[in-house]
Amino acid sequence: MSACIHPSILSADFARLAEELARIPGSDAVHVDVMDGHFVPNLTLGLPVVQAIRAATDLPLDIHLMIEDADRWAPDYAEAGAESVTFHAEAARAPVLLARTLRSAGAKAGMAVRPATPIEPYLDLLPELDMLLVMTVEPGFGGQSFLDVTLPKIRRARQALDGAPAPIALQVDGGVNRETILRAAEAGADVFVAGSAVFGADDPDAAIAGLRALARD
Ligand code: DX5
Ligand code: ZN
Repeated sequence: MSACIHPSILSADFARLAEELARIPGSDAVHVDVMDGHFVPNLTLGLPVVQAIRAATDLPLDIHLMIEDADRWAPDYAEAGAESVTFHAEAARAPVLLARTLRSAGAKAGMAVRPATPIEPYLDLLPELDMLLVMTVEPGFGGQSFLDVTLPKIRRARQALDGAPAPIALQVDGGVNRETILRAAEAGADVFVAGSAVFGADDPDAAIAGLRALARD
């Protein structure tokens, strides 16, 4: 199966973002964690910084919105030129309409679920999505440990996506490293977000290549 690695800039040096982006040319996309201090107990960055990142790199941007009122704000990130915009199922009032709005603004539509949120209520929505994100930590902070309790959900998601009429990516985010990526890939994930495992390495681009090779094994 193909394996895409999306480094999370949450683990990068925010004072030197352009330099940090230049260290990861082998990324399949740059994962940008937008947190509002309400949906999650952490505050990171918003639209102006995403616009600056858009101007600073040619890499695709994978925006992960951990914000309340996703319906109101997510389309702005599509308009800013993101390749994909992922909202949380728990934060969207009208996920089908939101996914359609994102697509019509030119972005891929992603939907994320927290570790305790089942995917089953959302299976009928899958054709509206380009990506499903199964969180493998509680969202809010980088550097947490991968939650193995999410593996059965990743397996169920893989089964559901394999039955979908069009390809839908299955992303995992949180605690992905050279050890846990093996379990996530075996369970069926094909897009892997990694923050500390990439930016904590001496050579982030080599770390990306190493993770990709492990996921493809
Ligand atoms: C957590 C974020 C993740 C985080 C991953 O809420 O969504 O993208 O940056 O960081 P690591 O890979 O260090 O767990
Ligand atoms: Zn994320």
